[in-house]
Amino acid sequence: MRPLNIGLTEEQRQGVTDLLNKDLSDAYLLLIKTKKYHWDVVGPQFRSLHQLWEEHYTALTESIDAIAERVRALGGYPVGTAEGFLKYASLKEDPGTLPNAFHMVENLVSDHEQVIRNLREHIDQCGDDFHDQGTADFLTGLMEQHEQMAWMLRSFIEGESIQPDGRLSAEGLKVPVNMK
Ligand SMILES: [Fe+2]
Repeated sequence: MRPLNIGLTEEQRQGVTDLLNKDLSDAYLLLIKTKKYHWDVVGPQFRSLHQLWEEHYTALTESIDAIAERVRALGGYPVGTAEGFLKYASLKEDPGTLPNAFHMVENLVSDHEQVIRNLREHIDQCGDDFHDQGTADFLTGLMEQHEQMAWMLRSFIEGESIQPDGRLSAEGLKVPVNMK
């Protein structure tokens, strides 16, 4: 770790860059998973999902770059190998599976939610343990992006009138009482 005179000890910067490298690795896995579904998705919602996932992986590419560059700004080195990303990520890959569009959306919602939970914890650690409000603020922005992406994905399956097995769902057709 490069010596810097920015009011953080080497230990604090090490702690923060370790967290950032975990977030970087998860963002990379999520990028790969989103791209794979962008390629594989079929069905009546093909065009919408294909386009939404392109927007998401474009946004993820930008945040990956921002996370890696923040590691450098704090004097550390970002993870930069496929092996490293797999080692530090909390998300898991599911090779060899071809879910339908509904389950693809469900899987990505669950991955984004996991990233949001990790980021929420990392934000607290940056402030409480490492005295780095700058990174806490940076990760807060990142968390809000994931919250928005998760909401967009959820909106595809919430209120769905056709279940993945083709059955009509009565629940999906109901209008919530407070919306009548
Ligand atoms: Fe594409």
